[in-house]
Amino acid sequence: MRIVFDIGGSVLVPDEPDVKFIEEIAYQLTKISEDHEVAVVVGGGRVAREYIQAAKSFTPNETFKDYIGIHITRANAMLLIAALREKAYPFVVSDFRKAWEVMQLKKIPIMGGTHPGHTTDAVAALLAEYLQADLLVVITNVDGVYDSDPKKNPNAKKLDRISTKKLVEIAMQSESKAGGSGVVDALAAKFIQRGEIKTLIIGKDDARTLFDAIKGKHKGTLIEP
Ligand code: UTP
Repeated sequence: MRIVFDIGGSVLVPDEPDVKFIEEIAYQLTKISEDHEVAVVVGGGRVAREYIQAAKSFTPNETFKDYIGIHITRANAMLLIAALREKAYPFVVSDFRKAWEVMQLKKIPIMGGTHPGHTTDAVAALLAEYLQADLLVVITNVDGVYDSDPKKNPNAKKLDRISTKKLVEIAMQSESKAGGSGVVDALAAKFIQRGEIKTLIIGKDDARTLFDAIKGKHKGTLIEP
């Protein structure tokens, strides 16, 4: 299989870099890459949000702030490259075609952000579409897709399996609420729908056994076209 992994910055670097988790995920990715083609996109997390917040004191320019966010995602990508050692291509990849080329060299391409105006979820969905990946795995700080926000509604139910259409509906709903952030952003959900990309959304616990998760042993949500 060809698999794209989308690792949220807040998973990799919650308050400070989660060294143990980065080591675990690097081990799992290495193991998976023995049987599958692997590409990875890494997010910015709290550090990106803090830098963007600080920059608000100096400029109202959203695109400028997006560039700051992109830099942070690339710093996180470098951490994962360091943990993957020889397995990873040593530069942060910023072009989907380069990611394809790197995979042909039997190395794992690691991307951060690419252009202003979206998040790394959208980058991962586009990369999966471009590479015609068999599976996109989103690793986030919620353990799957819920029918409502589990942080606000204690009765929220996790959905085991949903359609890409349903994912778009849920992502649009949470985006329209102030401060609301869904498991994936609405643009990424749209790309997943457009590319008819089979997608698995899992939390940090399942990520520790990623090798089993891609074979179906997980507590997350499977999204199918
Ligand atoms: P993230 O993808 O990390 O956003 O990019 P996020 O929604 O905060 O995701 P988590 O918390 O890691 O899961 C951080 C910021 O970097 C800029 C955006 O400003 C984004 O909010 N960015 C990122 C871009 O402008 N373009 C990109 O391709 C990626």
